[in-house]
Amino acid sequence: MISVAVVTGGGHGIGRALCRRLARDGAKVVVADIEADAAAKVATEIGGVARQLDVSDESALNLLVEEVESTIGPIEMFISNAGVGFGDGRSGAVSAEGGMHAIDDRWSACWNVNVMAQVYAARAVIPRMLQRGGGYIINTASAAGLLSQIGDAAYSATKHASVGFTESLAINYGDDGIKVSVVCPQAVATRMIGMEDDSNATEGGFGGNEVDGILQADVVADIIVDQALEGRFMILTHPQVATYIQRKTGDYDRWIAGMRKFRRSLAK
Ligand SMILES: NC(=O)c1ccc[n+]([C@@H]2O[C@H](COP(=O)([O-])OP(=O)(O)OC[C@H]3O[C@@H](n4cnc5c(N)ncnc54)[C@H](O)[C@@H]3O)[C@@H](O)[C@H]2O)c1
Repeated sequence: MISVAVVTGGGHGIGRALCRRLARDGAKVVVADIEADAAAKVATEIGGVARQLDVSDESALNLLVEEVESTIGPIEMFISNAGVGFGDGRSGAVSAEGGMHAIDDRWSACWNVNVMAQVYAARAVIPRMLQRGGGYIINTASAAGLLSQIGDAAYSATKHASVGFTESLAINYGDDGIKVSVVCPQAVATRMIGMEDDSNATEGGFGGNEVDGILQADVVADIIVDQALEGRFMILTHPQVATYIQRKTGDYDRWIAGMRKFRRSLAK
C-alpha cells in the first residue's frame, strides 16, 4: 500500500481518477492543481489534502514537497500528471499565437507544464527517495510522445521530451530502488479532448468526439496504478499503441506517409 502520494493535475480527468484510486487503496493523497476549487472538491470527496500549485513554478513545487514531507509524511509516490495542449494555431506547427486560449506562447506553456514541471518534481523528490531507499515516480506523457498528435506540434514535441526525460530517470535511478514509469495513453474522456465522459464517443478518428478506442479516466487510472506497482516502465493504457510503435520504428518513412494520408482524411 502507498502511504503518501502527490498527484499533480489532480483536480480533473485522469489526475482526479488517480486520486480516487489511490485513496481507495488507503493512501494519504495530496491533490495538487492550479485550480484550487477543483483540488478542494476532489480532496473533500476522498478524504485527502488539497494544495493549489502551478507545477511550472519550481520554487512553489519545492515548497509543496517540503511542506508535505514535514506535515504529512515522506512522499512514496509522486505523479506528475498535469499537462496542457492547445492545438496548432493559424500558422500551423510553427505557431506562437494564443488562438482561443489567452496565452502568449503555446510552446512555452507546453514546455513548462509538460516537461520542466516533471524535471522540477524529480529534482525535489528523488534525492529524498534515495535517502529512504525507494519510491515511485510516475510521469504522464502521451501516445503523442511516442507517435504524434496531428494538429499539435508543441504537444507532440513536449510529450516526446517527457518520454525521453523519464527514460533517463529510469536508467539512472532504477538500480537505487526508484521505480519510474511513463504513461502514454491515447484518447481518454476528459476535458482535454472536450469531454468528461465517453457517452457520445464514436470509434474511428482522432480529436473531438470521434476517437480511436477512447477510455474512461477511472479505467485508465486503474491500469496506471496497477502497472506502476508491478514496476513497469512503459504504461500503455491503450494496447494498440504497442502495434503502432512497432510499425513506426519498423519503417519510419512508411509511417510518415501513413500519417500524411490520415491528416488529409481528417481535413476533408
Ligand atoms: N485525455 C487524453 O486523451 C490524454 C491522452 C494522453 C495523455 N493525456 C495526458 O494526461 C494528463 C492529464 O490530462 P487530462 O486528460 O486528465 O486533462 P484535464 O484537462 O482533465 O486535466 C489536467 C489537469 O491539470 C491541471 N493543470 C493544468 N496546468 C497546470 C499547472 N500549470 N499546474 C498544476 N495543474 C495544472 C488542470 O487544472 C487539470 O486539473 C495530461 O498530462 C495529458 O497531456 C491525456
